Amino acid sequence: MTGLAARDERLRELMDDPDCDPVRLRRTLERFAVVNRLVSGWGTVYRTRVRPALRAVAGPARIVDIGCGGGDVLRGLVARARRDGFEVTGLGIDPDERGLAVSRATALPGVDYRAAHSSDLVAAGERFDIAVSNHVLHHLDARELATVLDDSAALAPSLALHSDIARSRLAYAAYAVGITPLAPGSFLRTDGLRSIRRSRTVAELATLPGWDASAPVPFRVLLTRSASAPTGPASTAPATATPRR
Ligand SMILES: C[S@@+](CC[C@H](N)C(=O)[O-])C[C@H]1O[C@@H](n2cnc3c(N)ncnc32)[C@H](O)[C@@H]1O
Repeated sequence: MTGLAARDERLRELMDDPDCDPVRLRRTLERFAVVNRLVSGWGTVYRTRVRPALRAVAGPARIVDIGCGGGDVLRGLVARARRDGFEVTGLGIDPDERGLAVSRATALPGVDYRAAHSSDLVAAGERFDIAVSNHVLHHLDARELATVLDDSAALAPSLALHSDIARSRLAYAAYAVGITPLAPGSFLRTDGLRSIRRSRTVAELATLPGWDASAPVPFRVLLTRSASAPTGPASTAPATATPRR
């Protein structure tokens, strides 16, 4: 086992195995809702980034969640926006039907889920006011990362937000202890710890041209691209494959 100074992209998460135990996978996806509420910081991101953007939208707003998994982040954003009086619809996309089955089990009017890769939506010419993702970036290698970032900027030229874990020893130690009550019968412990090892730091993501990397809450990184950001594809970025210390 290597330390946390460098990203460990060789580690594979158990849930990424198409043949993994379906019962444990379902529990993992369902419990993501609790994990995301506790650690992902979308309340802060909603107040500081999403709500101001919604104020600028004339008419109903559309939000797309790329790699929606169990769909809880999208439902949470739509519910918050509606409480604030915005007219909002949501589309969660994920090519993995196993996550979509969990998404669809919790219905929210105006929120739909589709089996699709972000590039499918780009090819179909779809447009949204805001594109988001949560816990997707650390699953991706440099080429896939560039594709998802470019896709999100094409789908939502006004605002794209990608939230993920930021790799650190403290995050690793805190997660190893904190996940204990939620872990039994799921992949949450193994995959969460592997996720932290696979994730990038704010400094590593800050090298991406056209994207702003920040830490909205502890242990997190948020990549933001807005209409005012300098243009240029993430696919020209050199540093995403090369971890820096
Ligand atoms: C760990 S899950 C995250 C689920 C959910 N967002 C959450 O936070 O609980 C990552 C998901 O991203 C999906 N994914 C990766 N790249 C994608 C892309 N380009 N378009 C759509 N989904 C993608 C994978 O299929 C996987 O289900």
